[in-house]
Amino acid sequence: MNIILLGPPGAGKGTQAQRLVGERGMVQLSTGDMLRAAVKAGTPIGLKAKAVMEAGELVSDEIVSGIIGEALDGLQAETGVIFDGYPRTAAQAESLDALLADRGRALDHVIELEVDEDALVERITGRFTCATCGEGYHDRFKQPATAGECDKCHGHEFKRRPDDNEETVRTRMAEYRAKTAPILPIYDARDIVSRVDGMADIAEVTDAIEAILDR
Ligand code: AP5
Ligand code: MG
Ligand code: ZN
Repeated sequence: MNIILLGPPGAGKGTQAQRLVGERGMVQLSTGDMLRAAVKAGTPIGLKAKAVMEAGELVSDEIVSGIIGEALDGLQAETGVIFDGYPRTAAQAESLDALLADRGRALDHVIELEVDEDALVERITGRFTCATCGEGYHDRFKQPATAGECDKCHGHEFKRRPDDNEETVRTRMAEYRAKTAPILPIYDARDIVSRVDGMADIAEVTDAIEAILDR
């Protein structure tokens, strides 16, 4: 099964993808995570992407489709994929079709997380992740069970993203509205889009997504 999680910044794509990985043995392919890893490692792609990401703008279609193609090549044919943060433009949607077809894969579901934009700034500015395993947390909505200790790996170091400030979030939302939301009709026409209330509790959102995948 191959699915896309679609939604604006802070909609919960990463949170839900991590939960589906845990429960279904699928693989999460997050272009945001892969680009952040490239920035950290100082690779040529990372050097190109750093300033663009800090400004909240989109990295080039060629770069992101290239890293998705490479990531798909590293997977077993039967492993299901959750695309998180990709595709984000009409050109990327077209590339994804070709990348999947070349590998004998097909898209099963596009799940749109519907959220109230006003809540997103709070979600994003309160977000932090475990520096060791990447588990996601939130100052208000998802604190570790023991303060200062990761639930998953018991690490004690956490980090925040440089693009998680209010000004950059506004740019990221504008990019979503202008370039990403317009790709939905492509998938609507194929009748593979399901909409989920992304304002519900984290576990309820997961249940709603699982119900769609089990349909
Ligand atoms: P990316 O990393 O994809 O960021 P984004 O799309 O802005 O989305 P986020 O990761 O901020 O949000 P999310 O939906 O994953 O929310 P999360 O689950 O963390 O991209 C970053 C940048 O990389 C882009 O700006 C661009 O520059 C570049 N890039 C990446 N992909 C690209 C592409 N394909 N093309 C071009 N450029 C690309 O949740 C947020 C917080 O809310 C968390 O703290 C969480 O705990 C909390 N939360 C989640 N769900 C709930 C809930 N139901 N109730 C309460 N709190 C919740
Ligand atoms: Mg994310
Ligand atoms: Zn951890």
